[in-house]
Amino acid sequence: MSSPPSQDNIPAIQAINVKRVYQARGGRSIGGTKAGKTVTALDGVSLSVARGEIFGLLGRNGAGKTTLIKIFTTLLAPSGGQALIDGMDVTREVVKVRQRIAMVSGGEQSGYGILTVREQLWMFAQFYGVPSKVAHARIDELLAAVGMSEQANQKVYALSTGMRQRMNLCRALVSDPEVLFLDEPTVGLDVEASRAVRDYVRLWMSQDLRRTVLLTTHYMFEADELCNHVAVINHGQLVAEGTTADLKRGLQEHARFQLEMAEWAPAFTDMLRGRDGVVEALTEQHADRTQLRLALLREEFIMPTVASLNDAGARILTLRRIEPTLEEAFVRLVGDEAEAEAEGGH
Ligand SMILES: Nc1ncnc2c1ncn2[C@@H]1O[C@H](COP(=O)(O)OP(=O)(O)O)[C@@H](O)[C@H]1O
Ligand SMILES: [Mg+2]
Repeated sequence: MSSPPSQDNIPAIQAINVKRVYQARGGRSIGGTKAGKTVTALDGVSLSVARGEIFGLLGRNGAGKTTLIKIFTTLLAPSGGQALIDGMDVTREVVKVRQRIAMVSGGEQSGYGILTVREQLWMFAQFYGVPSKVAHARIDELLAAVGMSEQANQKVYALSTGMRQRMNLCRALVSDPEVLFLDEPTVGLDVEASRAVRDYVRLWMSQDLRRTVLLTTHYMFEADELCNHVAVINHGQLVAEGTTADLKRGLQEHARFQLEMAEWAPAFTDMLRGRDGVVEALTEQHADRTQLRLALLREEFIMPTVASLNDAGARILTLRRIEPTLEEAFVRLVGDEAEAEAEGGH
């Protein structure tokens, strides 16, 4: 890129107490006066994404994800606070910010249907002033990478949803952005197309360490698979932030383990109950083995617990730590779908 080199100590993406209030939909009258009802889509959001990261912003529908992305991508002004890309204020340095960023939204119907895929990408390369030779090579490379070389000369209107979204990703990357915003990039895609998009995002990130991605999704496995750090947004406020492992661990009150023992041995659980650090010990009988579920006060209690089982003559076949999934962590933070509906969400 021809833009000045990025400074590594400045976050690639930063929000400082960002607020956004909308006039409620349908609240507009013909005379131009508003009905007065407002929706607070973002209520003081602060976050920071380091260069080189794939950062996931997780939240249910209506949480405020798209609003935040629109602010970062200069499409919408914040009502308060500040949003920065590479230290540049998105409202004051619009042109410079736009040179560094690109965005792909899920389910977007953008594109000029009568052009071919290649023509469409070429046109975007021209918008960004990418030299012809570079553009041609890059377009071929991108199309091959997302598995749509064969569709290069197809008209855009004839593409399947999955192929269209792969093209949208190529379109975003044709200007070689440093900061990429992906707003639910795989929504509505089939398994294969979703995987193609995710795989390519990962590959693209690995090819240049200056690159940064902010991804929104409500698919927890997608965030778990792609993101280093995540933040959970609910009703316009961040309710948790950290690595995916932090989020899972942080919500787990006790360290949970599952053991399998070679015989039916309910007596072992009686022995374990009341031992130091053992919160819960439950057995379940299977055909030829006993499954023992343990909740311990802390992880380190597993060693003495296993030792005492051994001393008592138990034959332990397997032992594994049970980690909560990101989905479970998410539900505990923002409630489940039914609760969201009861609150009047959608
Ligand atoms: N243009 C708009 N006018 C009025 N309200 C809006 C507008 N866009 C979004 N909202 C509201 O702002 C809140 C956040 O929306 P959005 O940022 O799209 O959430 P998400 O992307 O997480 O689903 C929702 O309550 C939504 O209804
Ligand atoms: Mg959205």
